[in-house]
Amino acid sequence: MSNKTTAAITAVGGYVPEDRLTNFDLEKMVDTTDEWIRTRTGIEERRILKGEGKATSDMVVPVIQEICRKRGIDPMEIDCVIVATVTPDMVFPATANIACDKVGAKNAFGFDVSAACSGFLYALTLGSSLIESGRYKKVIVAGADKMSAIVDYTDRTTCIIFGDGAGGLLLEPNQDGYGIQDSLLKSDGSGCHYLHMKAGGSLKPASHETVDKKEHYIYQEGQAVYKFAVKGMADVSAELLERNKLTGDDVTWLVPHQANLRIIDATANRVGLPKEKIMINIQKYGNTTAGTIPLCLWDWESRLKKGDTLLLAAFGGGFTWGATLVKWGH
Ligand code: UT7
Repeated sequence: MSNKTTAAITAVGGYVPEDRLTNFDLEKMVDTTDEWIRTRTGIEERRILKGEGKATSDMVVPVIQEICRKRGIDPMEIDCVIVATVTPDMVFPATANIACDKVGAKNAFGFDVSAACSGFLYALTLGSSLIESGRYKKVIVAGADKMSAIVDYTDRTTCIIFGDGAGGLLLEPNQDGYGIQDSLLKSDGSGCHYLHMKAGGSLKPASHETVDKKEHYIYQEGQAVYKFAVKGMADVSAELLERNKLTGDDVTWLVPHQANLRIIDATANRVGLPKEKIMINIQKYGNTTAGTIPLCLWDWESRLKKGDTLLLAAFGGGFTWGATLVKWGH
């Protein structure tokens, strides 16, 4: 038994909006078919956050509330909230600040992390460092995206992929070695032009012209991103296992970012994991960007056992990619 403090996951929360957008709905909106979407991506439906004034923070709030309820703590006990998102309520202030205010987490400091689909892993690594430092006792890490806010529903190459959702977890100090074991994060800004939003930032502030040109929506060169994603997610997963002297046999669950079923399969093959060991919920939520990994943990929480080894892996815009090893502790 080591005396080193690790960051254990002590509760998981999740939220998906009620409204469903099915492949059949999309058939009526763009030139596509249910068959094409299912075979190319694995997606059957996604959730959409509807309603005037509803934003990403409104999905983070129920996540924090569920975590507090499950753990039996008051929001006032939370030290820090980190929200990974590329669809913040506003460019500033941070969505984490807004969510903290809405749940009454008055003693917490909060900030957002922007690393697209890898955002949750980036935020998890930061959150675990805060716990490992010994300075903080209760850190909430959430991944949340209202992708419907930046999707062009006349563009069949992107609107079929994305959905809205949020998930998160509570990190607390542990002396028995449970929790975040190791993490390998990478980024390469030269990948920017394959996946980005052209306007609304300081490079191209929003104007009539940028809106007319639909530059406030996601721009993605799908095939190029696909190739980088397959290699990036598989490489980083293999490298992390290797440096921890583990193989696929030691992993209880692969928890992959849900971008495309074919990317998930390629990663699982590379590290030698059979289908039964992969968390897959892309069929019902689509790609919720920073939400995918915590939403998998939320869906699977009741099946996880103390001591299970989880390999979390993601690839996304930036480019950003990474993998994290977790020893489940509850
Ligand atoms: O999570 C963040 C990172 N993002 C990703 O990881 C996404 C990575 N990329 C992908 O998952 C895939 O590239 C897509 C799902 C976006 C596209 O699948 P693909 O197999 O790469 O299709 P493609 O772009 O090569 O297109 C194949 C064909 C094209 O037609 P032609 O040129 O062969 O006649 C497209 O125009 O499919 C056509 N197509 C569609 N057809 C029906 C593209 N979108 C659609 C559609 N319905 N929705």
